[in-house]
Amino acid sequence: MKEENLHDVKEPNWSPIQLELPLGISTKTDIRRRNIISSPKFGGSSDIDSKPYLKELGIEIVEKRQPIQFTSNFGERVHRWAPYIQGFSAAFVQSMLERYEEEYRSPLILDPFAGCGTVLAQSKLNSYKSIGTELNPLLQFIADTKVNSWDVDPDFLLEFFLSIPRNLRTAAPEFLKSENQFNKKVLENLEFLKGGIDSLPSETDKQIRAKNIILLSFSSILIDCSNLKRTPCLGYWKNKKVSDNSPWVLMERKIRDIYSDLKVLQEKFKKNISVKSEVILADAMEYSHRTNFDLIITSPPYMNGLDYVMNYKLEMAWLGFTKEAKDAKRIKDSLVVCDNVSKGLIRTFAQSNNKYTNDWLEEIKSGIAKNIQRRGNYRRNDMPYIVHKYFDDMYKVMKRVIESLKPGGRFILVIGDSLIADVYIPTDLLLARIGTKLGLDIEKVEKARDRRSGQIRNYRLRETIVTLKKAKHKV
Ligand SMILES: C[S@@+](CC[C@H](N)C(=O)[O-])C[C@H]1O[C@@H](n2cnc3c(N)ncnc32)[C@H](O)[C@@H]1O
Repeated sequence: MKEENLHDVKEPNWSPIQLELPLGISTKTDIRRRNIISSPKFGGSSDIDSKPYLKELGIEIVEKRQPIQFTSNFGERVHRWAPYIQGFSAAFVQSMLERYEEEYRSPLILDPFAGCGTVLAQSKLNSYKSIGTELNPLLQFIADTKVNSWDVDPDFLLEFFLSIPRNLRTAAPEFLKSENQFNKKVLENLEFLKGGIDSLPSETDKQIRAKNIILLSFSSILIDCSNLKRTPCLGYWKNKKVSDNSPWVLMERKIRDIYSDLKVLQEKFKKNISVKSEVILADAMEYSHRTNFDLIITSPPYMNGLDYVMNYKLEMAWLGFTKEAKDAKRIKDSLVVCDNVSKGLIRTFAQSNNKYTNDWLEEIKSGIAKNIQRRGNYRRNDMPYIVHKYFDDMYKVMKRVIESLKPGGRFILVIGDSLIADVYIPTDLLLARIGTKLGLDIEKVEKARDRRSGQIRNYRLRETIVTLKKAKHKV
């Protein structure tokens, strides 16, 4: 394995890539179809393409199939308060906590990409302290409310909710195209519901905390009330039927679910209520922790994956976390990169110094650049830099969190690999390799499930659990 380099990354001469339509090819759709059928990756799999990387690392991937997606949380206490399709399952987090329960008696747990707080909520249900960082303010609010509201009086919550006046109206966020997103009557009801919530008093701590649960509930019913669907990207759903009074009906159902969860928490998990869970609105690439952790359990954004801001644009705007479209763009550009970030951000990155890189990454970048040129059509021709920035961002996060991992501590990542412009990217193995550069040992790489590539549907990708360990004697 060649030595990783943090300095003086010389960018090859392939930017900007000039795209030309090959002779005889007419439309972009034609080109896309031809590219899929003629792709060398057609019918392939990451199992095959990972082989050289695994050989170099001297490891093997073991099968450990399990339900790892958030959908299995929909019926689970606390986790069900807010649907978050990009999260992972509480059952997975539980299985990790149980795997190491003998080794770490009362572990302190970190999730640098807290999302809606699955790791933190599950840790608290086990009486373990935890800390999370999350840079999307909506998700930070949701996660914080989910883990720090367990002592809210359920009867007061219900009473407070039922006292919401129905004749006050708050207009839908101006910069959203709400008339397209909601049927007219539904939108009217949503505006009255939001107006009523806004008018609730927030003078005492008791009122503020109950109101936060009500706001969380409001955010969590928005997509169900809309003409949209998250699958996992947000899109219009043609035949969706939403009844006019759905905002009030779904809201009451949600509050009653939370009411019954609070009753159970206060009867059966009384001791856990005071267990500390902190969700910090912070950038995991920069945040320096003052405590040391036994376990880091996390699921970073996937390379070329979802746009965590556009996917939550309705909730962010209705709850006032974004006031205009450019607020969303600013938040998006500050997260670990996805392929929907601004071109300016990537241009600046391409020109910057001191980037993380290694020989695998350089080969992947030049492969993508060549293939984009050959194909004559690609969604973004700055893709090699987007890929590079993803690993540079992840290097920064890993460096920060590994510094605060105790000797003998473990860093567990759930991550999916990618296929971009016919180039396979072993994201899991690349992150494992970064871990070794930062002083960790690769303990296990387990395959949790197969996935299909979004570009070439019959190319099999995977989702893995990467476990890295800090040696006991290392400081
Ligand atoms: C895959 S999701 C995590 C989901 C989480 N495991 C759960 O179950 O809710 C990744 C999260 O990382 C957050 N994120 C991305 N870049 C970040 C950064 N630089 N600092 C902190 N959070 C970030 C995103 O907003 C997103 O919520």
